[in-house]
Amino acid sequence: MQQSFPMNGGDGPHSYLKNSHFQRQAINVSRTMIEEAIAKKLDVKCFSSNPFRLADLGCSVGPNTFIAMQHIVEAVERKYLAQGLKSEMPEFQVFFNDHVANDFNTLFASLPTQRRYFACGVPGSFHGRLFPESSIHFMFSSHALHWLSKVPAELLDKNSPAWNRGRIHYTSGPEEVSHAYAAQFEHDMEIFLSARAKELVVGGMIVLLIPALPNGIPTSQSPFGVMFDLLGASLMDMAKEGLISEAEVDSFNLPIHVASPEQMTELVERNECLIIERMEFVDPRSNLFGLINGKECAMFLRAGLEGVFAQHFGSGIIDQLFDRLSKKIMESSHQLEPVGTILFVVLRRK
Ligand SMILES: C[S@@+](CC[C@H](N)C(=O)[O-])C[C@H]1O[C@@H](n2cnc3c(N)ncnc32)[C@H](O)[C@@H]1O
Repeated sequence: MQQSFPMNGGDGPHSYLKNSHFQRQAINVSRTMIEEAIAKKLDVKCFSSNPFRLADLGCSVGPNTFIAMQHIVEAVERKYLAQGLKSEMPEFQVFFNDHVANDFNTLFASLPTQRRYFACGVPGSFHGRLFPESSIHFMFSSHALHWLSKVPAELLDKNSPAWNRGRIHYTSGPEEVSHAYAAQFEHDMEIFLSARAKELVVGGMIVLLIPALPNGIPTSQSPFGVMFDLLGASLMDMAKEGLISEAEVDSFNLPIHVASPEQMTELVERNECLIIERMEFVDPRSNLFGLINGKECAMFLRAGLEGVFAQHFGSGIIDQLFDRLSKKIMESSHQLEPVGTILFVVLRRK
């Protein structure tokens, strides 16, 4: 059974719409890299069909998806012009994909009025087929592929060495827990890549922005790991105060995996239809985490993770949990130095 924990919907103070500057920053920082990939590697001459179809996988509620889609449409238009194909300029159709439970109402209510594409929604998990065979020219996915399709089964078994007592993630945990997460990620990515390879036209392109860490860097030394540990510590404090039980913490695990370039390369290479055109971290000097303070950081995490915590612990603990997290982040801000946290990946369909 796949699980789904959508970002906070609406446009209130805790919404994803109001708390996704960090992701937006990464999308903006990678804009030139997307333009370069399209200019150098997207062979529009081999595309016979009109319209040009692009998809955003895990689009959430905006506005980030609109910014990314606009960048891509403009870059493809420039490519047609540069190739002397002005008369063959296609119309554009954008497919906004996310889980069924995503707040598609907010997404469509805020669609830019000046857009140069036709918009449609595609509900469903990207850990499976979403589109007909050979129908999409360009796929994009930002800050979504780190979500696993489910918590690895071993973590739910008290008798397994992967029972993750007192923690909520593999960060700082035993090897068995990390292995279970890595195996689940590999399984999910294999399904993702094989579905995308079927759906892309030959010569089509995938651009991914994925939370990741350089090879060999333990998650505990990354801003993600530090924050997951702090969230776990906040929950354990609440358990010690009797607000929740320790058993509830023991049986909770975040279905999130932070990949490495090595792991991503291996996974793409297992797929015979896709090749890697580019893979590198977005410029760490852009200091993504430095842009936000402790409170904003807790708000950014809450917009993405509130659903997953509320489903397990109940919504009554959410304000307290993120208030405690905010304080802990302020005390540990020295540990939030950016180490290259977002991996930019360009894949092409052979
Ligand atoms: C952090 S948001 C990123 C939103 C947007 N792409 C951005 O960069 O701001 C992650 C999104 O991925 C979606 N997501 C996670 N797993 C998914 C899956 N298996 N299929 C479709 N969407 C998924 C979540 O529901 C969420 O809306």
